Amino acid sequence: MRLIIQQDYRRLSSWAANYIAAEIKRFGPTQERPFVLGLPTGSSPLGTYGELIRLCKQGYVSFKHVVTFNMDEYVGIPEDHPESYHTFMWKNFFSHVDIDPAHVHILNGNAPDLPAECAAYEAAIEQAGGIDLFLGGIGADGHIAFNEPGSSLKSRTRIKSLTYDTKAANSRFFGGNIDMVPKTALTVGVQTVMDARCVLILANGLNKATALKKTVEDGINHMWTCSIIQMHPKAILVCDDKATYELKVGTVNYFKDIESKNLDPETLLH
Ligand code: GLP
Repeated sequence: MRLIIQQDYRRLSSWAANYIAAEIKRFGPTQERPFVLGLPTGSSPLGTYGELIRLCKQGYVSFKHVVTFNMDEYVGIPEDHPESYHTFMWKNFFSHVDIDPAHVHILNGNAPDLPAECAAYEAAIEQAGGIDLFLGGIGADGHIAFNEPGSSLKSRTRIKSLTYDTKAANSRFFGGNIDMVPKTALTVGVQTVMDARCVLILANGLNKATALKKTVEDGINHMWTCSIIQMHPKAILVCDDKATYELKVGTVNYFKDIESKNLDPETLLH
């Protein structure tokens, strides 16, 4: 696993966006062979989306031949609800880049047969050739997508009940009222994320410090589902200084030293 430590959120976002754009460019996607990108919602990726939009508008990257699969969606709120992940993605990213709307995949939390919707989503990922890069955030309790503590580390796309912690954290988007937060969601599984050829996880702020420690320094544990990325052949965790608060000084120095020898993705892109 690579651990990229950036001074602040702005630099973290810029590193992640440059890395994604450089990977898309290096791949050279075409209509016959598109780049397949997994995407998250949440506050963590907002800066990355902003930077990707800028890079796209300035002509450094195009999403014309990029196919996307989002991680998750709430069950039971309308697609055009202001807090649905459909709304989030179009508002914060898709509407501002040159992506073909037919290439966008987001789970339908209102499908009449939810297990069938989940199975079809897995099949669609497979049919697209698998995910080349899965961008993700991380919950304060270490969850990835909506794979709450205790989720099977081999899980696939399915319905999950949201924990009290997650509902409390997300109530900020529902007028601070926890009862307004949907109780269930559809989410890709831990194994769905692990099947991607590259996994890029963002962790910023003090409230992610414990999750980061569990992911980087402790063992793999289903109570901290993000820790599974230790098993991924190409996992990159990008964090800011604040999120390193609980890491050992030695761990921080170790990763800073290794990474000082690597090229900044901005150099690869320009
Ligand atoms: C939600 C999402 C996750 C996201 C997490 C953290 O639970 N399902 O994909 O990583 O929140 O959100 P934030 O980035 O706002 O801290």
